Amino acid sequence: MYLHIPLVLFLASTGTVDASLLARSHDSLVRAATRAHKHAVKRSAVLARDLRLTFRDILAADSQQQPASIGNSRVYCVNSPAPGLTNSNGTNVNGNRPTGTASASSHGAFTGTATTTASAGSSTSSPAASSPWNLVQSYQGSSFFTGWDFFVGGDPTNGIVTYIDQPTSQSANLTSINSAGHAIMSVETTPQVTNTRQSIRITTQKTYTGGLVIMDSVHMPTGCGTWPAFWSNGPNWPAGGEIDIVEGVNDYTNNQATIHTNPGCSLTSGNSSVLGISGSVVGGTNCAAAQTGNQGCGVRASQTNSFGAAFNAINGGVYAMKWDDSGISVFFFSRSSIPSDITANAPLPDNWGTPMAFWPAAGCNPFTFFNTHSAIFDTTLCGDWASGVWGSTGVPGQDQSCAQLTGVSDCATYVRNNGAAFADAYWEVRYVQIYQSS
Ligand SMILES: *[C@@H]1O[C@H](CO)[C@@H](O)[C@H](O)[C@H]1NC(C)=O
Ligand SMILES: *[C@@H]1O[C@H](CO)[C@@H](O)[C@H](O)[C@H]1NC(C)=O
Ligand SMILES: *[C@@H]1O[C@H](CO)[C@@H](O)[C@H](O)[C@H]1NC(C)=O
Repeated sequence: MYLHIPLVLFLASTGTVDASLLARSHDSLVRAATRAHKHAVKRSAVLARDLRLTFRDILAADSQQQPASIGNSRVYCVNSPAPGLTNSNGTNVNGNRPTGTASASSHGAFTGTATTTASAGSSTSSPAASSPWNLVQSYQGSSFFTGWDFFVGGDPTNGIVTYIDQPTSQSANLTSINSAGHAIMSVETTPQVTNTRQSIRITTQKTYTGGLVIMDSVHMPTGCGTWPAFWSNGPNWPAGGEIDIVEGVNDYTNNQATIHTNPGCSLTSGNSSVLGISGSVVGGTNCAAAQTGNQGCGVRASQTNSFGAAFNAINGGVYAMKWDDSGISVFFFSRSSIPSDITANAPLPDNWGTPMAFWPAAGCNPFTFFNTHSAIFDTTLCGDWASGVWGSTGVPGQDQSCAQLTGVSDCATYVRNNGAAFADAYWEVRYVQIYQSS
């Protein structure tokens, strides 16, 4: 989520992704970027330091006393109870159906102490025994927001939003459950603001090491100035790793999935055929935040309806992130192509075909570089990525730059003065499910 400046510079300075450039070492990449964007590169280095400090502060506070005044103090809490378990009608059933500590694979671990058999809204269920995955957590329906912490305060990625707490978000009507039972997370649309717009960033209280995360959304934030994401991270960033499942900016129509880690994690190839993925490696194969100017290793989806307005036009679809001994992979299914095993809550990833992204264990041990993740939704405005490419084109969906499209030369000025433009900057989520291997 934090790590896009060098990639942005790379894309902005080349326009298109050139395979030979991708193969270059990080050092030459940075030299090229530095020549063209010296100032911005300096700024990104400062950003990286600030973020590490930010996360250290959070962790220190968390391990000491979990002060209630810090909105994100439970981001990395690993022993919290399971308040968000819901049944198929969305009723919170925590405490009613304790089933003991969830078992898991040799690596997999889920920190909660209860399981649930919630339905994802499908009318029929096939036998769960057919799936190697057990549903251990489901967020959906009227209690969707139970079990998430609301991050409160400014945006660590320098977006011009202020994240608000749950009561404030309800009274401002920035979070709600609509008549379809879907969770809405919106951005403040006041016509003009002097500084920031209110927005939502939520983090699961439950954490997981290994697992299968499935997210069904019918709408996501889109438009010039927006930078939404559904992602996860672990403690002591980047030691616990970061997995960006759904992410992009402005008018992009193709999702980008990215991982960010400690040194020692890489993609085994930059070639999609070799990796067995439908997406394209963008930026590079070294996933280490500290060695790549925080770029991480990203994969851009080939599906032109996997993000933004194009995603919304087809009523969205399902993203699945599988984290097991084979590595980490991300799948996207448009609304009309969601596998029946997913709607039956008995996922069979082996039958899903080619993932959009895959980081094989051979290049990156998924249990060395990743642990104890919380899933996160956020919507920021401008910030390091959306602002950084405000004047750029060349990424799918962005045939014209946002500067051209809006007639405003910088992102922040546009965002502050055009509240109505953010009426579409909302998430509408059917459910989030977390599975563990059985
Ligand atoms: C939802 O399910 C719970 C537990 O199964 C049940 O007690 C409750 O009556 C149900 N509510 C509705 C509205 O069906
Ligand atoms: C609250 O937000 C929802 C979703 O955006 C919208 O449908 C509804 O009309 C809003 N309610 C009020 C009272 O503004
Ligand atoms: C990618 O790998 C495939 C299969 O090994 C090969 O045929 C193709 O030429 C490679 N593409 C590039 C750009 O190297």
